[in-house]
Amino acid sequence: MKILVTGSGGLIGSEAVKRFISQGHETHGIDNNMRKVFFGDMGDVTWSLSALKSMTGYTHHNFDIRDRAKVFELFKEMRFDAVIHTASQPSHDKAREIPIVDFEVNAVGTLNLLEAARLNSPDAVFIFMSTNKVYGDAPNEYPLKELDKRYEYAREEDWAGINETCRIDRCLHSLFGASKAAADILAQEYAKTYGMKVGVLRGGCLTGPGHSGVELHGFLSYLVKVALSGGSYTVFGYKGKQVRDHIHSHDVITAMEAYIRDPHPGEVYNLGGGRDNSASVLESIEAIEKISGKKIAWKYDEKNRLGDHICYISDMTKFEAHYPHWKRNYSLSAILEEMVRAQGKR
Ligand SMILES: NC(=O)c1ccc[n+]([C@@H]2O[C@H](COP(=O)([O-])OP(=O)(O)OC[C@H]3O[C@@H](n4cnc5c(N)ncnc54)[C@H](O)[C@@H]3O)[C@@H](O)[C@H]2O)c1
Repeated sequence: MKILVTGSGGLIGSEAVKRFISQGHETHGIDNNMRKVFFGDMGDVTWSLSALKSMTGYTHHNFDIRDRAKVFELFKEMRFDAVIHTASQPSHDKAREIPIVDFEVNAVGTLNLLEAARLNSPDAVFIFMSTNKVYGDAPNEYPLKELDKRYEYAREEDWAGINETCRIDRCLHSLFGASKAAADILAQEYAKTYGMKVGVLRGGCLTGPGHSGVELHGFLSYLVKVALSGGSYTVFGYKGKQVRDHIHSHDVITAMEAYIRDPHPGEVYNLGGGRDNSASVLESIEAIEKISGKKIAWKYDEKNRLGDHICYISDMTKFEAHYPHWKRNYSLSAILEEMVRAQGKR
């Protein structure tokens, strides 16, 4: 296959490129190192792009997905069998500072790619990497109980977590959640209006050693960085008991492969580590300290992040029903062990 990966220097994009190359696919990537513009030197993905550029089977395109002429030109030059769209302004805190850039990258950039695909590769499978932030803070309406180190769903029927029936409007999104929700709906619409094979994956916390973790995005990766390289971490609100579920980038890519093999046009799926891979911030700090043997310096700020989820676990029932052969390979402790090893080597 001929596959295009946007955001190829990022966590998910780089994992996708490596996997597709190893399978012999002709793989193209778009990335302009915008992560460095968003987050400074710590977000620089040059290291990741350099590694990809040295691999046979990979062709890099160094431009911005906001540049519609460039996007259209590339799609005119070649027909893709699959498009994996992961390029994004990924942080809800950052979006507040740069609302227009955030919307132009996340929403308009996605529209550029969908339209270019419609005009030139209408049969391609198109996967849009969305986020659980499209649900805004609606998940915070689920009744919770407070335990020693984490919040937990109070009702038995919520045990598996949040599913795709959770509403996406009439709630507080953050500007990031709003721009991603716009892109999420556009992607669904291209399947419904034009019959394209577009699928939407709404990620929980995606993680792995390929992350250029920064304080505002890539929480586990940044915590590991603080543990091994010093500095301090700030926990924002909810007593550090807010819960996230973590999925390894490898498992994200195998989920994408399952979708490419058998696309269900216009479907949205939650994609996360699920209950088994869920942990609160306090539990994550404890686990990383245990694995790394280092103490993490952290402080507490009473004020929670705007629209932050108190307890978010991705209910994977729908994805697992449509793709019964897909299995999550990485447990949370395996993820952390690998991240500690990788950070030690950087
Ligand atoms: N990491 C997470 O926890 C998480 C959770 C839920 C959803 N997601 C979504 O998954 C996708 C991938 O996330 P990630 O963690 O790999 O992000 P990332 O920041 O690691 O990678 C994104 C890449 O896109 C590039 N990029 C950004 N804007 C660009 C532009 N305008 N033109 C070209 N390239 C551009 C960046 O340089 C970066 O390398 C994003 O859509 C994100 O919203 C991520």
